[in-house]
Amino acid sequence: MQSPAPLRMLASGFVTGDPGMGHVAITSTKPAQLRGYFNTVFDARLTDYIDETISGVKLKIRFLRVNERHHAIAIAAVRGLPIDPVRTRVQHLNIQTATLDDLAQSYRRVCELGFDMALSVGQHTNDKELSYYARTPRASSGRSAGTPVVIDETTWQPTTHHGISIWGHTPVGRTIVDKLDQFRLRARSLTRPEATVPALSGAGIPDD
Ligand SMILES: [Fe+2]
Repeated sequence: MQSPAPLRMLASGFVTGDPGMGHVAITSTKPAQLRGYFNTVFDARLTDYIDETISGVKLKIRFLRVNERHHAIAIAAVRGLPIDPVRTRVQHLNIQTATLDDLAQSYRRVCELGFDMALSVGQHTNDKELSYYARTPRASSGRSAGTPVVIDETTWQPTTHHGISIWGHTPVGRTIVDKLDQFRLRARSLTRPEATVPALSGAGIPDD
């Protein structure tokens, strides 16, 4: 439905338009095929990588872009394990607020309304955005603001960053029981097979 009436919302606005609505982060057991899919279907290009170790598990995250936004898709997978405990699923969805004050006020409202916070406010190493992550029943939802890196296709060169955040993004309110539940969910999801469609993912794109 289209309407000329402005949205009734508490934020002053969101950064959408040409760079799109934000990004989706996906965990996957098949990162090469997933990268192949977004390249084949959406002409997605590699922006950069982040290598990170969380709870002793080494992760590699691939950031892909389809326009000037630093990334529209992030694909995270576990490195160096014979069995990959991370299934293909949406890990978080990001939307970019128009102003830093929108980010701060939304953080206050999310806390006051009793939503579960996953990660506190922090700043990422690669796109330099400020963000926080609130938990929803199916995934985390991230809000970000600030002046993120904008890609110039003529000069951009992919690099690897070490660590997800420059500062902040500390886990909030996680208990051992929460973590056990998370591992139980992941273990259960491993019993479902993951199908790929070669016509869409091509031969897959291994990491550079
Ligand atoms: Fe993100």
